[in-house]
Amino acid sequence: MKLGNYELNGSAALAPMAGVTDRAFREICIEYGASYVTSEMISAKGLTMGDRKSGFLMTIGEKEMPASVQIFGCEPQTMAEAAKMVEQTGCIAVDINMGCPAPKVAGHGGGAALMKNPDLASEIADACVNAVDIPVTCKIRSGWDDDSINAVELAKKLEQAGASAITVHGRTRKQMYAPPVNYGIIRKVKEAISIPVIGNGDVTDIRSAEFMLKETGCDHLMIGRGALGAPWVFAHINNYFRTGESAPEPCVEERMAVMIKHISLLCEYKGDYVGMREARKHAGWYIKGMRGAASFRREIGELETMDQLKRLAERVIESAEEYYREGIE
Ligand SMILES: Cc1cc2nc3c(=O)[nH]c(=O)nc-3n(C[C@H](O)[C@H](O)[C@H](O)COP(=O)(O)O)c2cc1C
Repeated sequence: MKLGNYELNGSAALAPMAGVTDRAFREICIEYGASYVTSEMISAKGLTMGDRKSGFLMTIGEKEMPASVQIFGCEPQTMAEAAKMVEQTGCIAVDINMGCPAPKVAGHGGGAALMKNPDLASEIADACVNAVDIPVTCKIRSGWDDDSINAVELAKKLEQAGASAITVHGRTRKQMYAPPVNYGIIRKVKEAISIPVIGNGDVTDIRSAEFMLKETGCDHLMIGRGALGAPWVFAHINNYFRTGESAPEPCVEERMAVMIKHISLLCEYKGDYVGMREARKHAGWYIKGMRGAASFRREIGELETMDQLKRLAERVIESAEEYYREGIE
């Protein structure tokens, strides 16, 4: 798929996830084959008012390219100004959040609230498209609730406003993240517009990736939760679509090595104090489903240093080895 003039390499992009898709995680996902990565959502108002935290979220490093930066808000002029600031980072696209269900965003007219106001949504897209030279993409849901499924109507307006691609998360705002994903609405959007459509929702592995493509006819995939503690999911999906073969799941040693690399980057970019606190949720995801995961939970919750993390990784590996030995004997 092409994003503007940029030819994407790979089948799936990393979804924007507040509190998760920071610089460290984006770098790791690019290393593991994400076609592009998206920043956490950033307040357009915060950016234009010079808020330091919003500025920090917008930092894009060389090793995480191609990257897109997502902004949220509900005022066309402010969004356009923020889009200009985003363009200065060298990112390949600016993404507009039209799907966030959180009251702090949707409650102020941004995010998913824009699904209820397609005219304002297209005014925002139009203002951003006119403000920047890079592609502007929009990330929408299927609708606000089951009685107002309007992704097709909105996508058509956004295409007219000059958007370069639309990501459709096949759920309503009311559903939040609950099943099922509405694949039919993604297909309808794909059939209604000519710009690329990116399918999003519950893609976690080769099977679900294939299913999303087949059911919707979408041009590209976007993965959120499926990459948590499993950034190699991108490489597995790419490899499958290139060769038809399924790569084996990484062994425990590899998983722990990726976790340590990821958390080292986190500490490098955010400092040890913040990095190690944020490391706790990532460590939980990397260890999830592994033998003895529950017994490591308390320890993960108290992680404070890289040494503790390394010792934890060693014990996770030992625990897995013990399991295999027992299995053989
Ligand atoms: C922790 C978390 C944070 C999220 N933050 C954002 C965000 O900042 N912007 C956005 O457009 N969507 C956000 N989302 C939604 C995801 O981008 C994605 O649309 C959703 O999780 C469905 O995809 P998945 O099933 O692959 O996770 C977030 C989701 C999660 C779980």
